Amino acid sequence: MDSQRIEAAGSGRRRFLWFTGLGALGTAGAGGAAVMLDFVHPKVLFEPPSSFRVGRPESFPVNSVTADYARKVYLVRTEVGFFALSAVCTHLGCITRHVEEEGAIFCPCHGSKFAVDGSLLMGPATRGLRRIAIRLEDGELVVDSELEVEKDAVLRV
Ligand code: FES
Repeated sequence: MDSQRIEAAGSGRRRFLWFTGLGALGTAGAGGAAVMLDFVHPKVLFEPPSSFRVGRPESFPVNSVTADYARKVYLVRTEVGFFALSAVCTHLGCITRHVEEEGAIFCPCHGSKFAVDGSLLMGPATRGLRRIAIRLEDGELVVDSELEVEKDAVLRV
């Protein structure tokens, strides 16, 4: 009688250890599979295209600065024509802000100040805002934020 109890208790313990081990193996296997799947999944950084349409020339008043903070550019129309500026500060890369009342562009991070033609008015930045490429395509202005142009380049429309 006692030996039957001992055998039954041993069988129950064996079963418990068997299922615990199986559970641990299953958990480890699932974790390993998740790591492998993450490893083989491509890590691609999708960035928006650097070239984009901003609108028809007639939709921008003469002597205006139009900010597109989502795309980090300013579109400036003067009496001569159009040019585009990168809104990225040349000091440490903060996004600048155009202040209409001041007629200037300010960096909120360390206080650099730029004229609306992009030239540097006050540091700590050591150079003006980058003037970037702009062209007319199918009657619309197209800006390429990755293509820097001469600082006096103007698109005459
Ligand atoms: S990032 Fe603009 S002044 Fe420092």
